[in-house]
Amino acid sequence: MTIPFNKPYLTGRETDYIKQAVASGKISGNGVFTKKCQQFFEDRYGFRKCLLTTSCTDALEMAAILTEVGPGDEVIVPSYTFVSSALAFVRTGARVVFADSRSDHPNIDTEQLESLITPRTKVIVPVHYAGVACDMDAIMDIANRHGLLVVEDAAQAIDSFYTGKDGVRRPLGSIGHLAAFSFHETKNIISGEGGLLVVNDERFIRRAEIIWEKGTNRAEFFRGEVNKYGWVDTGSSFLPSEIVAAFLWAQLENLDAIQQRRKDIWNRYYEALLPIAERGLVSLPIVPDYATNNAHMFYLLFPDLAKRTDFIAKMRKLEVWCVFHYLALHSSDFYRDKHDGRALPNCDRFADCLVRLPLYFELPVEQAVEMVLRQFQ
Ligand SMILES: Cc1ncc(COP(=O)(O)O)c(C=O)c1O
Repeated sequence: MTIPFNKPYLTGRETDYIKQAVASGKISGNGVFTKKCQQFFEDRYGFRKCLLTTSCTDALEMAAILTEVGPGDEVIVPSYTFVSSALAFVRTGARVVFADSRSDHPNIDTEQLESLITPRTKVIVPVHYAGVACDMDAIMDIANRHGLLVVEDAAQAIDSFYTGKDGVRRPLGSIGHLAAFSFHETKNIISGEGGLLVVNDERFIRRAEIIWEKGTNRAEFFRGEVNKYGWVDTGSSFLPSEIVAAFLWAQLENLDAIQQRRKDIWNRYYEALLPIAERGLVSLPIVPDYATNNAHMFYLLFPDLAKRTDFIAKMRKLEVWCVFHYLALHSSDFYRDKHDGRALPNCDRFADCLVRLPLYFELPVEQAVEMVLRQFQ
């Protein structure tokens, strides 16, 4: 039996809602389904303002425009992340300063963060790896003391939370000034390609809407706030069609069931692999006390690259697709020459040693567990 790494889960209502959107005669963006999805996020998570985008990459690009960084500015981004977390800012002409991961988790190491700040630093981009919160109290404290903006890359972090020192449990994506989510088919909630920009800081709301709609004040016109609309700022076509939003709505209606199933699978993997970790053969993911686990990903950490490569190859022979994750961005072909030369050993270790196990709604989890355990007998 082949077990793919990922299989997009369909709730069954996606095509019904797409048909509804088509029948309504309005299939471009910012229609009924777009508004329903945006309202859902604002109501459920208390996000101040939500705008659906065609991808998380686009949401990050909007965030980069909103922060007004450009040549001469610096943006701090972990090196162990997807290209878009850095690229969105590099496109503006800003320089990305790569941060290392914690030793026990791929998330940004907040202990070292302050040493990376210079008078040119404008933005910090924490990435909530595997949907597990970065230490947001530490990050917001540093940002506030240095007058920096925080853009949460919450691509993987839907329905996950952070409990701060004040004891308040806040949804990821609601803490930074801006945040970006992904609905790419590999995420918990999907629309093929898709994303969401969250604007928590009131100052950015009006401009975000304009950037979203190709630099025009079209949204204000349709709300009757101005009597004509035109070109008022920079922007692009960042909004998805109603067809994408209709698909997403079917997923959002089932968010709790999807999350529960993924958590059950994650817990089963954890419980089954704990004895292997206790033998010191691999490490299991950690979830700090301040974070929740949204079961976006289950990963193992091998002691070295050779052991990970061997594991992936053996699983592939059994037709179970396990995959490694990011290559370090600071040593990528595109950025190697622009990086300041600092070693980022924790990032390198996650790049070499981390492997993700299949995790999707319809995963035959007992078979997957059995095949993984077989590698350690
Ligand atoms: C941390 C992170 N940021 C950004 C992205 C980009 O998301 P999208 O594919 O929706 O543009 C991804 C994609 O996997 C990601 O993992």
